[in-house]
Amino acid sequence: MKFHGKPRTQTAAFLPLCWLFLKILQPGHSHLYNNRYAGEKVIRLIPQTEEEANALKKIYYELQVDLWQPSSISYVSEGTVTDVHMSQNDSRALLAFLQEVNIQYKVLIEDLQKALEKGSSLQTQRKRRSLSGYNYEVYHSLEEIENWMHHLNKTHSGLIHMLSIGRSYEGRPLFILKLGRRSRAYKRAVWIDCGIHAREWIGPAFCQWFVKEALLTYRSDPAMRKMLNHLYFYIMPVFNVDGYHFSWTNDRFWRKTRSRNSWFRCRGVDANRNWKVKWCDEGASMHPCDDTYCGPFPESEPEVKAVANFLRKHRKHIRAYLSFHAYAQMLLYPYSYKYATIPNFSCVESAAYKAVNALRSVYGVRYRYGPASRTLYVSSGSSMDWAYKNGIPYAFAFELRDTGHFGFLLPETLIKPTCTETMLAVKNITMHLLKKCP
Ligand SMILES: *[C@@H]1O[C@H](CO)[C@@H](O)[C@H](O)[C@H]1NC(C)=O
Ligand SMILES: *[C@@H]1O[C@H](CO)[C@@H](O)[C@H](O)[C@H]1NC(C)=O
Ligand SMILES: *[C@@H]1O[C@H](CO)[C@@H](O)[C@H](O)[C@H]1NC(C)=O
Ligand SMILES: *[C@@H]1O[C@H](CO)[C@@H](O)[C@H](O)[C@H]1NC(C)=O
Ligand SMILES: [Zn+2]
Repeated sequence: MKFHGKPRTQTAAFLPLCWLFLKILQPGHSHLYNNRYAGEKVIRLIPQTEEEANALKKIYYELQVDLWQPSSISYVSEGTVTDVHMSQNDSRALLAFLQEVNIQYKVLIEDLQKALEKGSSLQTQRKRRSLSGYNYEVYHSLEEIENWMHHLNKTHSGLIHMLSIGRSYEGRPLFILKLGRRSRAYKRAVWIDCGIHAREWIGPAFCQWFVKEALLTYRSDPAMRKMLNHLYFYIMPVFNVDGYHFSWTNDRFWRKTRSRNSWFRCRGVDANRNWKVKWCDEGASMHPCDDTYCGPFPESEPEVKAVANFLRKHRKHIRAYLSFHAYAQMLLYPYSYKYATIPNFSCVESAAYKAVNALRSVYGVRYRYGPASRTLYVSSGSSMDWAYKNGIPYAFAFELRDTGHFGFLLPETLIKPTCTETMLAVKNITMHLLKKCP
């Protein structure tokens, strides 16, 4: 599967080299995001007692904090791994406070701007794309992903059909790929979405990887052939298109959609708290400025409404719903909104158990698995719970690599290993669907 760019000429092959020399000779080259993250830090702290947790919550409201983990300060209690991203000045204030009250901490990222620029291959690798096929080991902008989808729709029309299922708040089309061999017979389907949360860039990279692997191994791998012959995959590489675009152009750590609010200046809704399942209850915020804001009403976000409509329309066929997030290394299933155990728990649990084992078999990376409420935290209005409640029996959410070393800035060099191992887990779950669960 090649991206057919311009013919490979001598001059074209030398261009990247010349460009590289220019970069080296140029001393103060331009910074990503206008250098806005210079000196900012990511700090991990784990309160050991409830008093420490409460002290932390108190100072949280006095400082400007971008919470990386967990997604809301309300989740912080004794023993919660808490990763915070702050300005240089605020982190100074926080560190002084932590030393004073004697809370243990660790600086995960000393200088976010430097980490961001180091983790990204900048233009050097991106240039390579037009010379030697599509590069799946870099993060791609929304425009690049859309062009890639259009290209596949043209070149692989036997297995791929690209369609739009609606429009985003800012008017962008919401594209999905229908992947699988076309046949007249009734086929069950698997839904996969990536990038509900804008800053979790490894998600869209995985969706692209999945499609690439499917096309590349359809002929050689009997398991893949069976999957594409017997199932359709509906794949949405970027769910939150407006937010993803914004995370490339303005704020690398943006999470929500980009919708405006009538009364507040803060924009956006958490697209994973906006679904009509115990909407805006525990683990969701009613405040528009919070990262877990549930929105003014269920399905208020056009992106959520479009996907919900599509799933409602196809729910008789769709047997599995898979949603890709980061970071935590977990494989989660319902419920998110309550601690109760789902009916048919054993089928879902054994699928998850096998999937994380398959994943671990590649590089030994361990994933925790279990009901989202017990494994991660209680959250209401999530897409996974909604899918499950609407009759899709296998509903999963992946929290991909890592566990905080790089956090949202997972370097491009880790795209390949992360996607390779995740691929095995997804195939394992899918093969499970094709069997009868006892
Ligand atoms: C950070 O602190 C320095 C020195 O205390 C001060 O000059 C500067 O204005 C502060 N920056 C911000 C953004 O508050
Ligand atoms: C995908 O290709 C088909 C023709 O094979 C075309 O009808 C359809 O409009 C294309 N999809 C998009 C989104 O362009
Ligand atoms: C799924 O993974 C398990 C290991 O956890 C393995 O025994 C099994 O063969 C895998 N099944 C498929 C179809 O890949
Ligand atoms: C549980 O499994 C049974 C038998 O396979 C099926 O009829 C039923 O719909 C399942 N229930 C749920 C909630 O998935
Ligand atoms: Zn997420």
